[in-house]
Amino acid sequence: MSTTFTIDTATSRANPVAAPMKRLTVPAVRQRKAALTKGQGEPLVMLTAYTVRMAQLMDPHCDLLLVGDSLGQVIYGLPSTVPVTLAMMAAHGAAVVRGSYHAVVVIDMPFGSYEASPQQAFESAAYLLKETGAAAVKLEGGVAMAPTVAFLSERGIPVMGHVGLTPQAVNALGGYGARGRSQEEADKIIGDARAVAAAGAFAVVIEGVVETIAIAITDSIDVPTIGIGASARCDGQVLVAEDMLGLFERVPRFVKRYADMAGFVGDSVRAYAAEVRERSFPTADQVYAPRD
Ligand code: KIV
Repeated sequence: MSTTFTIDTATSRANPVAAPMKRLTVPAVRQRKAALTKGQGEPLVMLTAYTVRMAQLMDPHCDLLLVGDSLGQVIYGLPSTVPVTLAMMAAHGAAVVRGSYHAVVVIDMPFGSYEASPQQAFESAAYLLKETGAAAVKLEGGVAMAPTVAFLSERGIPVMGHVGLTPQAVNALGGYGARGRSQEEADKIIGDARAVAAAGAFAVVIEGVVETIAIAITDSIDVPTIGIGASARCDGQVLVAEDMLGLFERVPRFVKRYADMAGFVGDSVRAYAAEVRERSFPTADQVYAPRD
């Protein structure tokens, strides 16, 4: 796929500006399930994005960009996603929409912005979509959230579900361990996924579960499943971009590192620091000469 960025030279960084193109749509994502069920079509590719430049770089390769509330830990150094606010999600969501032209942008509803009632969820979701231009919201939870998923979906707000390990519930779950190791918990997670799919979710993220659970869900719901620590049999995959790029020393077991960004940053900054200290930077190439 070719990129269609134009360079806006009016800014000092000459940021590429996304040229208007037809974005992938939520219905197109949902409809991918039919082909995938027949063993046709490609799995959906989703990564998290929180900033304009990362969105620009990832957009050509992704079907969906998720403005995840994991930005609480990745960008802000918070201990969990619990303190993340609507204002944080709105600011980063708008940046990601500005930096993308092809992918469907999905934005996480932060903890406390949707659980109280479907009405509260509608107000929060409408705010996020108005402020950012994102196409859809994601919320965590299963059976208990199904009426909210239906309420939003019936009012024109596409919802992506999220079941299994739901990080916003870390205080109730007691940690980030894989879910569904007992039959009772496995049955509950499968019931949760079926409930949000039946309520109108256009796709469901399955996080951190025993693989057989992810397969059972994928085989039994009529919308795409997107796995993270789930199974290659899911209809798509998602990872936190900074995890797969190798920015962190410690990542969950389900992360595969495709790069060593931490090493690259460390090496580059070490080289810069040495050149500053020995006065070999800047060189003539980086300083201004008087006009002739
Ligand atoms: O917030 C996030 O990044 C997520 C993904 C891990 C699915 O919800």
